[in-house]
Amino acid sequence: MSIEELDSSELGTMEYWETSYSREIYNYNRNGDVGEIWFDEDSQNRIITWILKQDSIEEDDRIIDLGCGNGMLLIELAQEGYNNLLGVDYSPKAVQLANSIKNDRKLNIQYAVADLTNLEEMKKLGIFKIVHDKGTYDAISLCPDNSKQKRDLYINSVLNIMDEKSLFIITSCNWTEDELILSFVDKFLKKCTIPTPSFKFGGKVGNVVTSMVFTKK
Ligand SMILES: C[S@@+](CC[C@H](N)C(=O)[O-])C[C@H]1O[C@@H](n2cnc3c(N)ncnc32)[C@H](O)[C@@H]1O
Repeated sequence: MSIEELDSSELGTMEYWETSYSREIYNYNRNGDVGEIWFDEDSQNRIITWILKQDSIEEDDRIIDLGCGNGMLLIELAQEGYNNLLGVDYSPKAVQLANSIKNDRKLNIQYAVADLTNLEEMKKLGIFKIVHDKGTYDAISLCPDNSKQKRDLYINSVLNIMDEKSLFIITSCNWTEDELILSFVDKFLKKCTIPTPSFKFGGKVGNVVTSMVFTKK
């Protein structure tokens, strides 16, 4: 069984993100506004709370945030004591913004420009205990230029930076839990779903965002 591709959108293009982060850099320099935290701070807090509860995760474990944007998830993790943090984004402007914010807060976080659909570039980063994504698989799925191929490259990139102990945490607003499972089922095992608020409409229960944790098969 396969999933139906999403309609493409400008959110699936580098130009969109470069323009958006240029504006956010301008705002940050003017008034200290760090910009958008995608799917709101509650989604981010649910993930951080889940990570904090895992006895298997040590403060010096390697953690990568895929498509880190302004880096606010890593900022929160750094403030909780995690000290081996890397954020990657294909938008140089996102990395510039993230670096400014962490430098101003004097936190120990590394950032790099990297394209998740570039397998060789990603492989060089090594293995991580936590591989985190909030909204980036969504953005890649909206790519106007062969989204299916881009999604497959992304999935292989994620696999290449995981070992059998790694956890892949993904939050999506475009894909349901069932669709995420279908996307990843060949190469990943579902570990759990991180509960998110649900709504009921016409007798059907749905979620605005879905957060899931997978391990490598
Ligand atoms: C919806 S935003 C999410 C940002 C951040 N994770 C958050 O939750 O606030 C998607 C991010 O993915 C990045 N992105 C999209 N496609 C990418 C790719 N192929 N490689 C790396 N980053 C990508 C964008 O530049 C953008 O920062």
